[in-house]
Amino acid sequence: MTSNVKLKNWVEEMAALCQPDRIHFCDGSQEEYDEMFRLMLASGTAERLNEKFRPNSYLVRSDPADVARVEDRTFICSKSEADAGPTNNWSDPAEMREKLNGLFAGSMKGRTLYVVPFSMGPLGSHIAHIGVQLTDSPYVVANMRTMTRMGSEVLDILGPDGDFVPCMHSVGYPLAEGQADIPWPCDGEQKYIVHFPEDREIWSYGSGYGGNALLGKKCFALRIASVMARDEGWLAEHMLILKITSPEGVSKYICAAFPSACGKTNLAMLNPTVKDWKVETIGDDIAWMKFGEDGRLYAINPEAGFFGVAPGTNMDSNPNAMLTLTENAIFTNCGKTPEGDVWWERMSPEPPESLIDWRGNEWTPQSDSPAAHPNARFTAVASQCPVISDEWQNPNGVPISAILFGGRRATVVPLVAEARNWEHGTFMGSIISSEKTAAAAGKIGELRRDPMAMLPFCGYNMADYWRHWLDVGGRQGAKLPLVYYINWFRKNENGGFLWPGFGENSRVLKWIFERCDGSAGAVDTPIGALPTPDALDLDGLNLDPGALEALLRVDKEGWLEELPMIREYYSQFGDRLPGELSSLVDHLEEALQA
Ligand code: OXD
Ligand code: MN
Repeated sequence: MTSNVKLKNWVEEMAALCQPDRIHFCDGSQEEYDEMFRLMLASGTAERLNEKFRPNSYLVRSDPADVARVEDRTFICSKSEADAGPTNNWSDPAEMREKLNGLFAGSMKGRTLYVVPFSMGPLGSHIAHIGVQLTDSPYVVANMRTMTRMGSEVLDILGPDGDFVPCMHSVGYPLAEGQADIPWPCDGEQKYIVHFPEDREIWSYGSGYGGNALLGKKCFALRIASVMARDEGWLAEHMLILKITSPEGVSKYICAAFPSACGKTNLAMLNPTVKDWKVETIGDDIAWMKFGEDGRLYAINPEAGFFGVAPGTNMDSNPNAMLTLTENAIFTNCGKTPEGDVWWERMSPEPPESLIDWRGNEWTPQSDSPAAHPNARFTAVASQCPVISDEWQNPNGVPISAILFGGRRATVVPLVAEARNWEHGTFMGSIISSEKTAAAAGKIGELRRDPMAMLPFCGYNMADYWRHWLDVGGRQGAKLPLVYYINWFRKNENGGFLWPGFGENSRVLKWIFERCDGSAGAVDTPIGALPTPDALDLDGLNLDPGALEALLRVDKEGWLEELPMIREYYSQFGDRLPGELSSLVDHLEEALQA
């Protein structure tokens, strides 16, 4: 129970609306977690994996109609449509509240309402914030315990009058008297993932999966937190945080934003190939950054676990993720081997001869659908990661020296470019993009612009968000990180990757580290400062002849072709677009033509 008045009243009000059979205040204990799985084993939601291979681990299969974040069912209900901006789905808040009231009425009949108090960030950290999720899903309760600091201690911090972000969630599958449950209750027809930014409130209906249902992650830590950050002068970003240490024992901290499925988790956990350098993980998905008294930005990882994409993860691509998953893990929508372990595409060089696929059907390598759903996930606590940094729970955060933006581009964008200043860095972040299709060499493919990798996660008008970035840069006394535009994915004329990626990316991190110290060479170009060929440590790396030159080439024609697309993208924001950004496009054009 709780002494918090706002929480008590809200739980009472929501219980009256949703009519659950029972209410349970979560304490966050191991017994409670085990009880959630006892319930899920009984309802057929979960299976326990073979203790020999995965101690204390479970496989869960979702409904095939509930397998990923539903961006088209995600709404930002600000009072004015213009405040949500052209890149968000907006809906009138009063109409949406009426709709939600109808959907949630009686939605928890026959179920338990779980009250899940959680802290995003280390308990009591001045950078952290508290949320409370009400949910009727034991799967959500178990995942929230892994992904956040969850339970009684959070209620202690909240005290009688502390504030929290209310996160209301129902899978939308009430049970009539005597009706049997099904393994994955959800509403196959109606899903609503709704944010009220002015009220700092989240309502999610109809889905039990991932970012739709674990409301601390994308809904709170990005969409609502981005609004809080705007109002309070800090940054809530879709960024990993890593610690890099030189052979001399000097450490720096780097944040990096890449669109979903561009290898953020791999970069956060990489094993460096440059001799005697060390990389450790602080976070793999989200960074909250607030100014310290010294004018630097200090970052925390608001999460406590990883909810990563399983397919493609293996001992080559990300050994540290694999080692994080050896026990106490939840696997969702993976295949199950005859030995009772999990398997997903490319987990091992050879697939098992047979298994049960994510839908529960017999599968062989000859089957024409994958064993694991492409968005199959693992959930595991961050502390199990073999390269987790000893700073990852530091309540004061870590001082950030550099911010990286990147996308997946076969052409035009070089391996790395350094922004001239914060304003130029904001411009770089605003134009990051990935090819929707593998582009033919020498041609720009169809691009999805994903500014700061925040396209699906910015809780307000993207142009106002850029304004906020520029304002952060203008803060009196700010000592800002250097900003970089990264592209690991440039290709040669035969369609092969020019850069080997993975652990070799540490060579670029090393250059950035040395730039922050002012010790590495760079050459100024119209698109920013690029490494001089001898400044990148390529010792022991056998790049194809000409590859380095191609990786660092400033493709003037390519950039000139791209400028009209950037202008067109910007134009949708009308007069809310900060003038600094359109001036930077003009500048770039002049510099490229000079
Ligand atoms: C994620 C995403 O799940 O970005 O982290 O989609
Ligand atoms: Mn993400």
